[in-house]
Amino acid sequence: MTNNEYQTVAKSTDIPLGKTLCVNVNGKEILLCHSNEGFYAVDNLCSHAEAKLSEGKLKGCRILCPLHGAAFDIRDGQALSKPASKSIKSYPLQVLEDQIQIQLGE
Ligand code: FES
Repeated sequence: MTNNEYQTVAKSTDIPLGKTLCVNVNGKEILLCHSNEGFYAVDNLCSHAEAKLSEGKLKGCRILCPLHGAAFDIRDGQALSKPASKSIKSYPLQVLEDQIQIQLGE
């Protein structure tokens, strides 16, 4: 399987609405987020320092870093507030029945 194919990483029923789940995919920590707009996948590491976003809070479509409070849009990984200025990577995601699948890419 290449990284450009969708691979199953979790079950949608494992992540209640408003919650996140960190999964390890090919040695990478990916944060799966269940917002009221659906499921999204982003890198688990904040772009500012070494904080894990899985320890932060999901508010709507924003994930808040637990260390200095930067917010990222889970739909595209964009940094929305300081002190983070760089976006985090977001990953294509699809839900097939109850399977959450993502494409890791490069
Ligand atoms: S480590 Fe995330 S905002 Fe500083």
